[in-house]
Amino acid sequence: MASSSSCPPPSPRLAHLLPVLVAAVVLLGRGGEARQPAPLHGVVRSMAFDEGYTQLFGSGNLALRREGKRVHLALDESTGSGFASQDLFLHGFFSAAVKLPADYAAGVVVAFYLSNADAYEKTHDELDFEFLGNVRGRDWRVQTNVYGNGSTGAGREERYDLPFDPTDDFHHYSILWTQHRIIFYVDETPIREVVRTEAMGAAFPSKPMSLYATIWDGSAWATLGGRYRANYKYAPFVAQFGDLVLEGCPVNPIDHSATAACGTPWYEPVAAALSAEQRAAMSAFRRGQMSYSYCHDRRRYPVALSECDTAALPRLFGPDGMKYGGDRRHRRGGRGHRSDVVM
Ligand SMILES: *[C@@H]1O[C@H](CO)[C@@H](O)[C@H](O)[C@H]1NC(C)=O
Repeated sequence: MASSSSCPPPSPRLAHLLPVLVAAVVLLGRGGEARQPAPLHGVVRSMAFDEGYTQLFGSGNLALRREGKRVHLALDESTGSGFASQDLFLHGFFSAAVKLPADYAAGVVVAFYLSNADAYEKTHDELDFEFLGNVRGRDWRVQTNVYGNGSTGAGREERYDLPFDPTDDFHHYSILWTQHRIIFYVDETPIREVVRTEAMGAAFPSKPMSLYATIWDGSAWATLGGRYRANYKYAPFVAQFGDLVLEGCPVNPIDHSATAACGTPWYEPVAAALSAEQRAAMSAFRRGQMSYSYCHDRRRYPVALSECDTAALPRLFGPDGMKYGGDRRHRRGGRGHRSDVVM
């Protein structure tokens, strides 16, 4: 659905209001079922499934609830399930409130990501939130990743221990992608910023992508390197998605030209200038919750990739990129798993 409302014209009045809206979210958002990410509240509209998405796989394992504003994705013995945006977008703001399956979920992987692997087999771009299920009593882990132009040999994973139980309630996970910057958000907190540098070259995603949400069996690697496999005694595993937001510039699916003049979308200034408060919140999150960083993984990258600021948080991480004092039995997913992730 490529409606012109996807690309609102720049609004100085809106930009002026953003700090107020952000403050309102922080103050008022605590009691709600799902807190809106800071740049969003009152600014963008969530949509029903039929307005912007389509089922990808899993036949009966995708179910719509609440007039199509909630999507339940199930994994059982027969199949996982997933959906995708109807459009390809060049840049945008992509968000969903997600509630992960409770109880025993080892081997279960839920992913919320942008990709163009369908269109560019060898040179695809990708921006990921991946949620890795765990054995009972141990937390789900979330990781973000960035690939550009088929750079699958150079993973840029970061992994985090969430400061809440993501199976208890809905939380917003958002990806803001512009020509110059990528920002990942958990609820109202920016947790990762990737600034495009000359040296990154095409590793910075630059071609139109679709939005995907999937649940699937990652038994081979997801939990402690495959030690704990999915146990279908606990099936179906159901991930719930709500507050679906697609705010971007849709492109022509054939030649990838822009279908409408998007002007300067509202999210451009948001990406260009995180507030001092948001920067402080991002630093605190990264210091407190980040459990693995490719930038500190000297075994994998003897010389850190060019965009890495290794002076940031240096003493917190061991030479394997894992945080000291964390649970070091939590191994990363392994290097060969990418082909499993791209559906
Ligand atoms: C992307 O990768 C392809 C194949 O390796 C290469 O030919 C192309 O120049 C790359 N694009 C950019 C922008 O570097």
